[in-house]
Amino acid sequence: MIPLTHPAFDIKGAESDELSGKKMVLCITGSIAAIETVKLARELMRFGADVHAVMSPSAKKIIHPQALQYATGHEVITELTGKIEHVELCGCREDKAYLLLIAPCTANTIGKIATGIDDTPVTTFATTALGSGIPIVIAPAMHSSMYSHPIVMKNIQYLKELGIEFMRPRMEEGSAKLASIEDIVICVLRVLNRKDLRGKRVLITAGGTAESIDPIRILTNRSSGKTGLELAREAYIRGANVKLVQRGYSPYSEIESIYVESAQQMTDAVLNELRDGFDVLICPAAISDYTVDKHPDKTSFGKELTLSLKPVPKMIELVRKNHPNLTIIGFKAETNVSMKKLISRARSIMDKYKLDLVVANDVGKGGIGEDENEVYIISSEIMHVKGSKRDIAKRVIDALVGVL
Ligand SMILES: Cc1cc2nc3c(=O)[nH]c(=O)nc-3n(C[C@H](O)[C@H](O)[C@H](O)COP(=O)(O)O)c2cc1C
Repeated sequence: MIPLTHPAFDIKGAESDELSGKKMVLCITGSIAAIETVKLARELMRFGADVHAVMSPSAKKIIHPQALQYATGHEVITELTGKIEHVELCGCREDKAYLLLIAPCTANTIGKIATGIDDTPVTTFATTALGSGIPIVIAPAMHSSMYSHPIVMKNIQYLKELGIEFMRPRMEEGSAKLASIEDIVICVLRVLNRKDLRGKRVLITAGGTAESIDPIRILTNRSSGKTGLELAREAYIRGANVKLVQRGYSPYSEIESIYVESAQQMTDAVLNELRDGFDVLICPAAISDYTVDKHPDKTSFGKELTLSLKPVPKMIELVRKNHPNLTIIGFKAETNVSMKKLISRARSIMDKYKLDLVVANDVGKGGIGEDENEVYIISSEIMHVKGSKRDIAKRVIDALVGVL
């Protein structure tokens, strides 16, 4: 028996409590990506999960069970005994696991689950979980020649039809590699979430824009894009189909990101995407109000340079004109104003552009580029939220669900 004070538990909930109280089974099969599972188990625990590892005999040849025992703080199940471990964790019992995650999953194990064979601890756990209605997530990993085998493809399709969630592997260097740990964690969060945005398409702008002075220099602002990214993550976890428009890249492969640079490019990209039928637009991006004529060559140093700034059309105004029924969340940033003034200015853009919600903050007090912020979420009511941008994103999405 491993004591409950095992040092493995020291990191539990260090990142967030989003998986706190959630017992989950991490099944590991004989892929070389099994070496990633120590990090994966630890990351799930940082989100609060209680992780129990199960290994196939082939997985044991790649990584020693003691590594997983160290990582999870629990005995690793490498064979089934009289304790009937598969029923204990995944049978029809009140305290059964919330989720069965098979990562990495070999072509062999996918084939066995699809045909109902269970001759390893992993396949027996999968059979039991399927029978007792525990959600299953499979993250395949194999050589690309195995992944493109028509029967492997057919098996995956069949298992998807049975309700098993498949993670897209990273197609790199001729291999279908295990999805990234970040992607696996948000997929697990999505599967376990209440999914109150299921079926909704949400477009989110994030970060600052940049206006080119010349081929090298730009005019930009201090917005980091963290709020937009946290909103995208939260909307995805809550079941939405999410797309980002930003001067940056998405850390999650399941959240597509369109790269733009200038204010005009961001406006054009948003208008273009909205033609494709989104339900919601969320606009935390700090879009430049001005642009500048770009000098074709590098401007020379040493003499005074005058820039003539020209106003750019307001994205939110154009969007509202073209999409009168779209649900829009606007953002209003002010500096060093009273709370009353901040809220009244936010209400005036809300009325002007018929916004469904406005998130207002006084960036004179901080927030830009930081991990924390203090905001007012304004609809018919006013909600004051101070804390991490992740927590703020949760409250904004709660408010969105309320207006949809
Ligand atoms: C070093 C090594 C790496 C392997 N990597 C993979 C892999 O990434 N994906 C896969 O489907 N099979 C891989 N295999 C083959 C599987 O281990 C083999 O099909 C085995 O029967 C799988 O058993 P299991 O599904 O019960 O774990 C690998 C084998 C070895 C020896």
